Amino acid sequence: MESNSPALLKVENLSKKFLIKKSLLKKEFFKAVDNVSFSVGYNQVLGIVGESGSGKSTIGRLILKLIKKDSGEVRFEGKDIYSLSRKEEKIFRRETSVIFQDPKTSLNPRFKIGQIIEEPLLIHGVPKKERKKKVEDAVKDAGLDETFLDRYPSELSGGQRQRVAIARAIVLNPKLIVADEPTSALDVSVQLQIINLIKKLKNEKKISFLFISHDLNVVGMLSDRILVLYRGKIMEKGDARHILKNPAHPYTKILIDSLPPEHPKDRKKLDAVPEIYREDVEGGCVFYSRCPVAQDICKKEPPYKTIDNREVYCHFV
Ligand SMILES: Nc1ncnc2c1ncn2[C@@H]1O[C@H](COP(=O)(O)OP(=O)(O)OP(=O)(O)O)[C@@H](O)[C@H]1O
Ligand SMILES: [Mg+2]
Repeated sequence: MESNSPALLKVENLSKKFLIKKSLLKKEFFKAVDNVSFSVGYNQVLGIVGESGSGKSTIGRLILKLIKKDSGEVRFEGKDIYSLSRKEEKIFRRETSVIFQDPKTSLNPRFKIGQIIEEPLLIHGVPKKERKKKVEDAVKDAGLDETFLDRYPSELSGGQRQRVAIARAIVLNPKLIVADEPTSALDVSVQLQIINLIKKLKNEKKISFLFISHDLNVVGMLSDRILVLYRGKIMEKGDARHILKNPAHPYTKILIDSLPPEHPKDRKKLDAVPEIYREDVEGGCVFYSRCPVAQDICKKEPPYKTIDNREVYCHFV
């Protein structure tokens, strides 16, 4: 269920296929994102969780217009991002930004930290006299001090580099940041620092985040709402606390069951997940082949059902 407050980002029936094989007779496509709908409110973190290959990054890239959609709609502050005027496009680029997983490869090694953070300001034509202060503010907001500005990425730790990536992402004061596995390359203790920094930016700067991770534990720590993805489809989406405390979809239950047991004490334990070897059924539930509770009815596509503050893709809720 979507909240009633106006959405910063609204995605409806978004789909994306990739061509994976081409021969004279036919083309084979892979559905990476399949009819996905969700919204991100102002000052909200939406966590997208799912295993490798489930389509998380593809959703992020579609929303930032780094790749083209096949069908569906993406609205940012009510405007269709695929039919913006040049002026609106500039505003959209300014108000959205991205943080990637690996700050080693996402930061240009030949640039000093100051130049890396300044670059988006240059691209967007911010006058020189304003740039210095904005760079200094951003580096401080990201939890580093000005002495870092004169250093190179190779002289920083992984956590510090990710803070630089965050400083760069916030320097233009965006409304939405797509954070694609921003903590996955970091040690656990550093992960926590970055999670706290993102929480702080949300609370103090009112930035919304689309926070992508394969780790439900991490997603649960900072998301207001969660979307669980499997093979490009939403299995369950809704309020984070509800989902973590009382998962409705069998896949979410498995994800939660695989979390370290010291996490929330009130977590329900699933019985051991059996090893399942079942053939996929064309047109059926996409989780059929791995679902511990599947029945014959699951050979048909389940509808989305709304229960207890969320939408669930399963016949049995
Ligand atoms: N440009 C592309 N061409 C062909 N297939 C692609 C392309 N980009 C992604 N895919 C495929 O789409 C699927 C979803 O990829 P995506 O990168 O969105 O997954 P992900 O959930 O982010 O995975 P990970 O956790 O490993 O980052 C994968 O099977 C991937 O191989
Ligand atoms: Mg990815």
